[in-house]
Amino acid sequence: MRSLLITDLDNTLVGDLAALNRLNDRFIEARQQQEIILVYSTGRSLTSYRQLCSTVSLLPPDMLITAVGTEIYEGNGAHLNTQWSNHLIQNWDRTLVVEIAGQFMALEPQPEPEQRPFKVSYFLDAAIAPQVIAELSATLRSQGLSCQLIYSGSKDLDILPQNSDKGKAMQFVQAQFEISDMHTVACGDSGNDIALFGQNRGIIVGNAQPELLNWHYQNPAPHHYLATAHFAAGILEGLAHFCIFNKAFQ
Ligand code: GLC
Ligand code: MG
Repeated sequence: MRSLLITDLDNTLVGDLAALNRLNDRFIEARQQQEIILVYSTGRSLTSYRQLCSTVSLLPPDMLITAVGTEIYEGNGAHLNTQWSNHLIQNWDRTLVVEIAGQFMALEPQPEPEQRPFKVSYFLDAAIAPQVIAELSATLRSQGLSCQLIYSGSKDLDILPQNSDKGKAMQFVQAQFEISDMHTVACGDSGNDIALFGQNRGIIVGNAQPELLNWHYQNPAPHHYLATAHFAAGILEGLAHFCIFNKAFQ
């Protein structure tokens, strides 16, 4: 039975190089016994993903999701999946989003390479984030825009089309590979990973950010596991908890 391992990169898979190498070895070994599809889902742009690849040894994924679920690439970033882009274009007015968000002094635009066709990103101080996000969300709605506002790492605010996030991109990939929730495990550490924790199995690494931990405490589920170990060691702990890699996901 084919299964899917989908993981965030920064502070989930990447953070402890020794643990990452252990997980890579374990994955290569398990892949000899089972068909496991490997997908990375990152908030980074493709350019920034490639920079990361030049500093850490990541196994080439079967598919790559970048920019918080707004871009899906075949293989290791080879071809952009335009079916997904065309799906996001509906109901998205990027110019208007930028114009409205630009009126909020508390929002500091992130560097240009992280601004993407379907992702507008800012830095936002955690102390004022809830209030600013509520006001921005109300203003966007009052202008007829329906967007997703996702706050991660107590500093990053991403504005995305309503029908896109890491979870929705994961569902698209599941459909492409015909893999059910039962045969999917997702791993994450921060706010933009919350959408990865649906009916599928999920591993929250021990070093997770408060926004994901709080969400998990409020929405506990037996198929979501909060690891004690950090980074890739947390993923390995979660995989052992679910007996994944020892036998097929059942
Ligand atoms: C990555 C991206 C950044 C985004 C953050 C949270 O750090 O580079 O643009 O805001 O993830 O999703
Ligand atoms: Mg992360």
